[in-house]
Amino acid sequence: MRPLKTLDRVLSKAGIGSRTETRRWIAAGRVRVNGQVVRTPDHWVDLERDEVTLDGKAIRAQRKIYLLLYKPKGYLTTYKDPRGRPTIYDLLTGVEQYVIPVGRLDLDTSGLLLLTNDTRFAERITNPDYKVPKTYYVKAAGELSEEALEPLRRGVLLKDGPTKPATVRLLRSGARNTFLEITITEGRNRQVRRMLEAIGSRVRKLVRTAIGPVGLGSLEIGKYRELTPEEVDALAGKGWYQQATSSTKSAKAEAVRPLGRISASAQDARAPRKLQSGGEKGQAAAAKRRPPARAPSADPPLRPQE
Ligand code: URA
Repeated sequence: MRPLKTLDRVLSKAGIGSRTETRRWIAAGRVRVNGQVVRTPDHWVDLERDEVTLDGKAIRAQRKIYLLLYKPKGYLTTYKDPRGRPTIYDLLTGVEQYVIPVGRLDLDTSGLLLLTNDTRFAERITNPDYKVPKTYYVKAAGELSEEALEPLRRGVLLKDGPTKPATVRLLRSGARNTFLEITITEGRNRQVRRMLEAIGSRVRKLVRTAIGPVGLGSLEIGKYRELTPEEVDALAGKGWYQQATSSTKSAKAEAVRPLGRISASAQDARAPRKLQSGGEKGQAAAAKRRPPARAPSADPPLRPQE
């Protein structure tokens, strides 16, 4: 089957910008198909036959990439913040592709965040129908007994409906705080925090320690790594990695820019993530954003000490 796609989709799938941005470039006459300027984003393109260029450089389908970031608290899960606060993209030094977060973590939540340019993978992990478990380490206010936690296991009523049954493990309980591990298969806004509030407590610290079988391991806070093909398959289904990456391998056109692996040195670099967006104003501004002044706070997961 031919990889027929609309022009704006070809460009956004190539990982060089969002759909909105690529539509702007097309309208501005910067994109050519087989040498002719095309200003219609809905123009059909066959990547195996047609040559697409942006500002004269050839586009090809981008390599699928799957990242695991240990998000520190104090970082927003957003692309850019109007108030200039640090975002997760400040931590993705050396990532050339346009990756999106798979779900969100609150500003004050730390832990495992996946990022990818495979939108189908992201949908698969976040769609509650697939019941991919997300595990959190929680420090909750007050002394909570097994009995007090029982409603979380059954499901509690939140303003956007009842929660699905959760797996809850009481780790330690003291007069001031209770430490527990909770696994949910949904990903609603501030869900764990609201669940704890529903039983009369409050989250004091929240760390996502695992998604499905993939955990933080020994990854340092603020760092990221690529998922292995086995991990991608374990999360999204057997054979996913091979299928998702084989279409990229068969793309024939030249790359717009190198799509190399992420080197350890690139990860260690302190500069903000290099953004490649064909000179778009917003992204250039984001690229100039200073790296966060303070080091990410160490937030030991699965260790119920304070
Ligand atoms: N639940 C929350 O309350 N916050 C998160 O960041 C993730 C899950």
